[in-house]
Amino acid sequence: MRYLTALRPQITQIMTRTISATTPAYKQDLPHLPAPQPVKTLKHFLDYSQAVQDKQDFEETKKVVQKFVENDLPRLQELLQKRAEQLPNWLTPWWLNVAYLAARTPLPVVTSPGVMFPKFEFNTPEGQIEYAAKIAQAATKFYLLAKNEQLKQDVAGGAPLDMSQYKFLFGTTRVPQLNVDQIKYGCDYKEQLRHIVVIRNGHLFRVQILDQNDQVLPINAIIEQLSKVVAESATQNPTPVGIVSSDGRDKWARVYTSLKKDSTNAKNLETIEKSLFAVCLDKPSDPPAGYTEKDEQSRQALHGGGAKVNATNRWFDKTIQFVIGTNGYTGMTYEHTPAEGPPVAALMDFICDQFQGNTFTTSGSNASEQVEKLDLKTDDEINQRIKKSSDAMDRIAADLDILAYTFKGYGKNFPKSAKISPDSFIQLAYQLAFHRIHSSLPPTYETATLRKFTEGRTENIRSPNTATATFVKKMVSKPPKPVSEIYDALVHAANQHKKYTLDCMNGSGMDRHLLAWKMIAVENNLPTPELYGSNAYQQLTHFQVSTSQVPTRHFIQMCFGPSALDCYGICYNPQETELHFTISTFKSYGSTSSKKFSKELSKALMDMRSVINKATKESSKL
Ligand code: COA
Repeated sequence: MRYLTALRPQITQIMTRTISATTPAYKQDLPHLPAPQPVKTLKHFLDYSQAVQDKQDFEETKKVVQKFVENDLPRLQELLQKRAEQLPNWLTPWWLNVAYLAARTPLPVVTSPGVMFPKFEFNTPEGQIEYAAKIAQAATKFYLLAKNEQLKQDVAGGAPLDMSQYKFLFGTTRVPQLNVDQIKYGCDYKEQLRHIVVIRNGHLFRVQILDQNDQVLPINAIIEQLSKVVAESATQNPTPVGIVSSDGRDKWARVYTSLKKDSTNAKNLETIEKSLFAVCLDKPSDPPAGYTEKDEQSRQALHGGGAKVNATNRWFDKTIQFVIGTNGYTGMTYEHTPAEGPPVAALMDFICDQFQGNTFTTSGSNASEQVEKLDLKTDDEINQRIKKSSDAMDRIAADLDILAYTFKGYGKNFPKSAKISPDSFIQLAYQLAFHRIHSSLPPTYETATLRKFTEGRTENIRSPNTATATFVKKMVSKPPKPVSEIYDALVHAANQHKKYTLDCMNGSGMDRHLLAWKMIAVENNLPTPELYGSNAYQQLTHFQVSTSQVPTRHFIQMCFGPSALDCYGICYNPQETELHFTISTFKSYGSTSSKKFSKELSKALMDMRSVINKATKESSKL
């Protein structure tokens, strides 16, 4: 999703797993990711630097780039070219480690997003179980479709996209290890996985979901098992060790290793690792003062509301955890390593389709296996860690300001009617809103998919460039600039953003190329180029705004935390007639506020529409 952490040189020592062994047979002959062109990348670097630097600093940046071209570029690009010729995707094995497995920071709330279903109609303990059973069954049907390569081929702009991420979603667990985690993909196990893990009051249970013929169990058979879970988990687990999976990865790795020394623990951990996904039957939770139920739903999906609420009812290593509240609010916490948001969103949409069509399977065999409680024995040292991790999670949950906001003024329809890309238009609104609050332009991250290429993950459609800066300057200028001038700047900035979006999606983005040169230097024991210590590079890689578009057919929202204390995290889902945003900030920073940003965003969107309407009216009079 986002560029989460600074590059870590040590990760190059890691053996990486390429994923070609499990690439499915949807559209097999996707192109390999080419090595990008240096001229384009460095031109972009200068343009993006100029947008956020003053004149003097920018002069320095030009000198640094010149030195890089003379001293470092030829060798680094040659080595990258070689790597691109050898691997199906020169980026993905690096990316898995840099962005995910080698990161030692906690998974919630920055790395692992939360996803929210539309509100369902239940409000009783029986309703909670029924909806949990239905969601689990629908997800298992989707798993079978993914496994058997029967999902509809994804496309972007007519080009087929790599489908391998769908298979990685199920049965997958990120296993903590010191320095670098391991990802165990469900599709790599030889045996058929047939169970899920259900968590309630911090207790874990093995629950069967497929029968011996690999058919989904009927709803009643799932409900019957969930009822047993409920009966056996009446009181809170005093040592819910899963909470440590919310903490720093090395801390969790130490606990994990220690747990595994006991043979029953080791067996139970393996059962958790091999479960298709987790279902968390949560206790009731209320929104904190000043927040809505929708905001509370985001909190539950993202972190569980702290250890005193439902954060102890999670296993953050599982790729998929469905989070089932007691009052109709449900969602998912997802571990990001194996996949981006769109395949997850497709799963969520599929589940909503099943509810809409009421197409649940109601007949079939009963469970042939007993529900099994997966107790994990802990010692004093682990219990102390559980307490510390619980306190840490409570602090983060209290600090995160997360707001689910819907802009109702218009949707994608308006920018489309003005012949402007809605995504580019929205990105410009972020820049304007931020500038009006902080009087500066924020280095901004936006995910672009690279799934046009085999094993493709993501690139960063970064903002602002000089065209964005010109647009914002004209928008906030006092005295106001003529509307036609602002309009021209808006259209130009949006078109430049869209042009760069296409560059990114076609493998010609700047950020991953910069990453590549740095990685290849480390791997070949070459000095790290001065460019990476430059002010420009440092400034450009501190993303004050991290964004991600995840569109869906149903009313599904995704959310994630800001990448650092002074930053904003924004996930957005543009619909035809309204725009959904989930905005997050940290309260302890003081000068950021999700609510304030939502107000400025709304104002920016209204003002931009007004510019377009006035300018087009004026030009039609001529
Ligand atoms: N005039 C009129 N219509 C236009 C237009 C223009 N100039 N430019 C675009 N449109 C239309 C498009 O045809 C599209 O129409 P649709 O609603 O009928 O599908 C719509 O506007 C949206 O296009 P746009 O806003 O330009 O964005 P996009 O849908 O192409 O998405 C990205 C852009 C970058 C978000 C997308 O390409 C991408 O990479 N998505 C993956 C992001 C991801 O992985 N997120 C999860 C991270 S965890």
